[in-house]
Amino acid sequence: MRRLRQADWSRRLVRETAISVNDLIWPIFVREGGGAPQPIASMPGVDRLSVEGCVEVAKRARDLGIPVLALFPYTDPDKRDETGSEALNEGNLVCRASRAIKAAVPEVGILCDVALDPYTSHGHDGVMEGDRILNDESVELLCRQAVVQANSGCDIIGPSDMMDGRVACIRAALDSAGRRDTMIMAYSAKYASAFYGPFRDAVGSGGMLKGDKRTYQMDFGNTDEAVREAAQDIAEGADMIMVKPGLPYLDVLGRLAREFGVPTFAYQTSGEYSMIMAAVERGWLDGDKAMIETLSAYKRAGAAGILSYFSPRVAEALRS
Ligand code: PBG
Repeated sequence: MRRLRQADWSRRLVRETAISVNDLIWPIFVREGGGAPQPIASMPGVDRLSVEGCVEVAKRARDLGIPVLALFPYTDPDKRDETGSEALNEGNLVCRASRAIKAAVPEVGILCDVALDPYTSHGHDGVMEGDRILNDESVELLCRQAVVQANSGCDIIGPSDMMDGRVACIRAALDSAGRRDTMIMAYSAKYASAFYGPFRDAVGSGGMLKGDKRTYQMDFGNTDEAVREAAQDIAEGADMIMVKPGLPYLDVLGRLAREFGVPTFAYQTSGEYSMIMAAVERGWLDGDKAMIETLSAYKRAGAAGILSYFSPRVAEALRS
């Protein structure tokens, strides 16, 4: 087999899978106010951006050929409350950023998370009664959040809340609001994970979170359950599904991609990103090589695409 490995051209010729710019979804963080990008301590190289900053990033995504941006808000603490009501405000950060991006750069797709955690005072994804999360009451709010986002220009709704039955309700709500073309990428297999830590810093919910999310996010020992989650989401109308986190769950990704044949995405989470970046900062890893190798691993496992904070850097690297 080493005959084929001799030269760069023959390695390229027989390569089975490769990452391409078309596989990338670039998550960005939007904040209030103007001015320069604001660094996020636990995510070196990732910033919180003003709405205008998001438009600049969208132009860069277009020029690099990155198909989709995923928008996440840093909501000021005084706008957070028990029920995450800011999520339903058409003038919230994500909605303003979506409208601004759609007006300036309509050729780039926009994905918005549906979950209340950037807006709640307790940092959970739904509404609480004491320390219990209420499924159906949460779903009702999530449907309204989805419609508000779709009306602001969001192309893909990404329910990341892990409530039962939310995809069907969101699909019905979008349809009756005249948003039949808005897609749903369901976070189908979303595990209760340590790898979301830096993201929670980025959106400002880390310090607020009371307890953990294990009563609604999946237990990391389970795979059959991921198959049931995905089957339900697809039956309820999901156009695409997702596995999250990515690298520690490639077995789940591979199984869902093979079993359903529905476009299956991976989320290379903040913790995975920061783990690599921390080692790079210490000179222990070659960042470009580690980034391309891990993103290729998602593709090899069967991913249709990857949400990655490395997206712009990967797109640059693939060009040169
Ligand atoms: C919100 C949400 C989270 C992430 C994406 N959407 C955090 C969480 O569920 O606590 C994590 C993304 C990342 O770590 O990069 N529901």
